[in-house]
Amino acid sequence: MKTFLKLISLFTIAGFFLASCEGPTGPAGAAGKDGTNGTNGTDANETCKLCHNPTVVDAVAVQFDFSKHAFGEAASSESGNTGCSPCHASEAFKYVCKNNVPSTFTLGSNGKYSNDYATVAGNAMGELTCFTCHSSLHTTYAGTDFSPLTTTAAVSMTMWKGTKTINLTQDGGIGNLCVKCHQPRPLTTSTTLSNGDVVDYAALASSPTDKFYDSTVGNAQPNKLLPSYRMHVHYGGVGAVFAGVGGIEFPGTLSYTSSDHATVASCQDCHMAAVSGKAGGHTFSALGNFNGCKAAACHSSGVSATDATFWTGPRNDIKGLLSTLAGKINALGDGTNKVLHTDGASTNLWLGITNENYDGYLDVYDPSTNPAGKYKNPAPAGSWTADQKTTNNSLSTFPSLLNVAAGAMINFQLCLRDYSLGIHNYKYTKALLQNSIDAMTTAGI
Ligand code: HEC
Ligand code: HEC
Ligand code: HEC
Ligand code: HEC
Ligand code: HEC
Repeated sequence: MKTFLKLISLFTIAGFFLASCEGPTGPAGAAGKDGTNGTNGTDANETCKLCHNPTVVDAVAVQFDFSKHAFGEAASSESGNTGCSPCHASEAFKYVCKNNVPSTFTLGSNGKYSNDYATVAGNAMGELTCFTCHSSLHTTYAGTDFSPLTTTAAVSMTMWKGTKTINLTQDGGIGNLCVKCHQPRPLTTSTTLSNGDVVDYAALASSPTDKFYDSTVGNAQPNKLLPSYRMHVHYGGVGAVFAGVGGIEFPGTLSYTSSDHATVASCQDCHMAAVSGKAGGHTFSALGNFNGCKAAACHSSGVSATDATFWTGPRNDIKGLLSTLAGKINALGDGTNKVLHTDGASTNLWLGITNENYDGYLDVYDPSTNPAGKYKNPAPAGSWTADQKTTNNSLSTFPSLLNVAAGAMINFQLCLRDYSLGIHNYKYTKALLQNSIDAMTTAGI
């Protein structure tokens, strides 16, 4: 009994204490001191996904596989060469853009000119990738890193050692990005016979009957430049023709004006239009894709491959003029062999652009680049074998060239290698070709 009472009183005391825990809440304590703000971490997963998803990077990467920028082999072959890589290799392109490398020529203490448009040996490589044109990728890791493009600045022309400039201001200058690489290169005089300076193009047009190359003199002065298989302004005719700047402008019946495309359309309107077949988007190809003509709000009813006004008509016209001009140049030859090289193989980048399949090279013998050449190379290399020298000596002498012929050859190369047969800039293409033909006729050729 005594134990029972003790237990009851214990429970009573415990009950009292338990009941007191449920009493009224005391007043709130004073607020604690603010902590320091933590740095926001980058939410890697979230920002990566803005780009790394099936509709953005993944989809564009599939298109890009079909772009010659990606599958072409020139990036690899020209990497390491500081003069070639500014247009062919990613790091070199970014280097010349970032450092605003001028396209001037500088006279050295040896009395010879050198081309300043070059990268440095440490930045002369790299395949063309997304990072070539989208220079800020992976800098902030935000979805906006696709902008800005590596360059949209006016392009100082390397062919003209900086004395002419192309500036496609439409659409924020995106075309200038393309033209920075898709522009012709300078035709330079020999560093042994002359000083290596760029050919005086203005004189080709203003003094058409002056002698450019005298075949009776051959590999000696006063000749400054010897005809060879690759006597050319390289492959980027598009930039010059599209902008209507930098051809050899012989005076003539047609004036050097440009079609509307030069000021209204941009490269990406036609070359990055909605994908159709293997063209459009980041394939950068316009082959057979007419989506851009309509989308750019220029040809509201569209253009098709059978359109006589906007496609077949102008293209046949330019194709005919290319062949006529080529005929004039070939007339300088031995009467049997064309002076201009033709090539019916699928490796000819300009296959089908003319009926004759010209490629813009001269048919001068060279054991490695043109072993079937029809004309004697005026400067056989010491390294050639005796057989190669014998072959060369058995060939016809390459004809003498007046300034008009040299200028006409350059215009032929620009307009052929432009590839579009006047679609880029019909008026300028037509003026260059027609006035070249007329200038040749006036010179008695
Ligand atoms: C503005 C868009 C964008 C954002 C944001 C972005 N990336 Fe990328 N990333 C690209 C592109 C474009 C490529 C190149 C794809 C190609 O070459 O096919 C690439 C390539 C890569 C590659 C392959 C290696 C390389 O550098 O080429 C890795 C890894 C990568 N990204 C990781 C990330 C991670 C992790 C994040 C987030 C922290 C991220 N990226 C955010 C656009 C982006
Ligand atoms: C960094 C220099 C560079 C830039 C910038 C550039 N290209 Fe190119 N492009 C090239 C080179 C070099 C080739 C040839 C690659 C090869 O053959 O290996 C090429 C090839 C092409 C081709 C295929 C030509 C053919 O013979 O099939 C097209 C079309 C083209 N580029 C369009 C464009 C357009 C449009 C732009 C601008 C949006 C552009 N490119 C920007 C250097 C460039
Ligand atoms: C000013 C820019 C530029 C420079 C400099 C340049 N190239 Fe090119 N090159 C181009 C462009 C653009 C193309 C592609 C043109 C096209 O296909 O319409 C090209 C095409 C080529 C091709 C043909 C690739 C193919 O598709 O078969 C070769 C080979 C080539 N270049 C070699 C060279 C060499 C060698 C040098 C240096 C001596 C050089 N390039 C310097 C712009 C340049
Ligand atoms: C030869 C230059 C060039 C290369 C290489 C290139 N791009 Fe582009 N890209 C452009 C241009 C020019 C535009 C802008 C088109 C416009 O505004 O009409 C663009 C636009 C884009 C856009 C749209 C951006 C926006 O803000 O709307 C994306 C996404 C893109 N590129 C992804 C890529 C990826 C991924 C790669 C590599 C697989 C790549 N690009 C390679 C030139 C290039
Ligand atoms: C009005 C539409 C249009 C515009 C604008 C345009 N192009 Fe073209 N481009 C074409 C067409 C069409 C072809 C020929 C394709 C064909 O035969 O179907 C072509 C051909 C080319 C080629 C040769 C492609 C090959 O397969 O060899 C290159 C390189 C090129 N363009 C670059 C450019 C550049 C760089 C710009 C801007 C300066 C530009 N184009 C602007 C329509 C256009």
